Amino acid sequence: MTTIRMDLGGRGYDILVGSGVLEDFCHSADLGRKVLILTDDGVPRCYAETVAKSCSEPYIYTVPSGEGSKSIAVFKEVLEFMLEKGFSRSDCAVAVGSGVCGDLCGFCAASYMRGIDFYNVPTTVLSQVDSSVGGKTAVNLDTVKNIVGAFWQPRLVAADTDTLSTLPARQVSNGLAEALKMAATFDEELFSLFESGKASEKLEEVCARSVDLKRAVVEKDEREGGLRKLLNFGHTIGHGIESACGMSGMLHGECVAVGMLPMCSPEVSRRIGICLEKLSLPTRVSADPARVLEAVKHDKKAHNDRVSAVFVDEIGKGYIKDISFEELEERIKLVCE
Ligand SMILES: NC(=O)c1ccc[n+]([C@@H]2O[C@H](COP(=O)([O-])OP(=O)(O)OC[C@H]3O[C@@H](n4cnc5c(N)ncnc54)[C@H](O)[C@@H]3O)[C@@H](O)[C@H]2O)c1
Repeated sequence: MTTIRMDLGGRGYDILVGSGVLEDFCHSADLGRKVLILTDDGVPRCYAETVAKSCSEPYIYTVPSGEGSKSIAVFKEVLEFMLEKGFSRSDCAVAVGSGVCGDLCGFCAASYMRGIDFYNVPTTVLSQVDSSVGGKTAVNLDTVKNIVGAFWQPRLVAADTDTLSTLPARQVSNGLAEALKMAATFDEELFSLFESGKASEKLEEVCARSVDLKRAVVEKDEREGGLRKLLNFGHTIGHGIESACGMSGMLHGECVAVGMLPMCSPEVSRRIGICLEKLSLPTRVSADPARVLEAVKHDKKAHNDRVSAVFVDEIGKGYIKDISFEELEERIKLVCE
C-alpha cells in the first residue's frame, strides 16, 4: 500500500492506494454518524455494503450509472434525500464508485448545509488515477460539462486496486488515458511505462505515480489559478468532443485521448498515438469540427475569441498557451472524420 499525503494545511488528507485499502478506510474514516453512501447501479454493490457495515447509521443512495447522473435534477434528489433523513452539518458523505459518483457526491457534500465532510472511495481506474484527488466537484448543465460545482476537498481517499478486478477492459483503458495525460505532461519515466505496453499490468504503480503527480500540482495551486491548468492536457478538445458527441457513447477518457493528439509537436503526437493504440483507445472521432468548436466556446477557459489550452512539444514538459478559435478549429479538424 502507498499513502500519499496531500498537504493543504487544514484541508490536507491522505490518499491510500493499493490492494485492500478499503478495509483501512473503514477503520480510519469517522463513520460513527449519519453517512450518505453514494454509489451507482453499475458499481458492484459489495463495496458500498462494506463501507455501510462500518457506519453507525448508513444510507446507501444509488444513482443510475453514467454521465446523466451528473445533473442538477439528480443533485437535487440527493439533497432532498439527505434532508428527509435528517442529515445535519456534522454528518458526512462517501462516494463509492466512478468519477461520476465522486463529482456528484462531492458537490452534494460541498453544498448541503454549506458543506459537510466528504470521503472518496474510487472504484474505476479513471477515478483512482485522477478524479478522486484534488477537490474538484461538479455537475453538468444540460450538455455543458462541469459548469456548476465547487472546490471541496475530501477528508480521506481510498483507491483500492482490488475493486478494479470487476472493471471492463474498456473502462480500464478509459482511465489509463488520464494517466497517460499526466505522464505526457509531467513525467517522462511514467510515459516510458506506457510505451513499453505494460501500463495495464501495473495499475497500482500507475495509480500511485499519477496521484503523486497530481498532488504536487494541487498543493501549489489548489483552486486552478495557474499551474493546475496543466492537468487539462487533452481536455479543451476532449470536453468539446464530449459535449458535441454527447449521444455517441464515447467515454470521458476516450475523448481526452483524442483531444491530446492535436495539441503537441508531430513527434509527441506520434508517440502518444502509439500508446493510445496499445491501449485500444481512439485516435480519431466521427464529429463535425464546427460543432466541437462551438462546444469549446462554452468552456470555462474560453474568452474573447481565444482559448487557453495545454500543449506538449516535449514529453514531460507541458505548457499553457492562448490560441485563437481559428487555430483551434484547424487542430480539431486533424482528429475529426
Ligand atoms: N473531479 C475531477 O477532477 C475529474 C477528473 C477527471 C474526470 N472527472 C469526471 O469523471 C467522470 C468519468 O468518471 P468514470 O470514467 O470513473 O466514471 P463513469 O461513471 O463514466 O464510468 C464508470 C462505469 O463503470 C462502472 N463501475 C464503477 N466501478 C466499477 C467496478 N469496480 N467494477 C465494475 N464496474 C464499475 C460504473 O457503474 C460506470 O458505469 C466524468 O464525469 C468526468 O467529468 C472528474
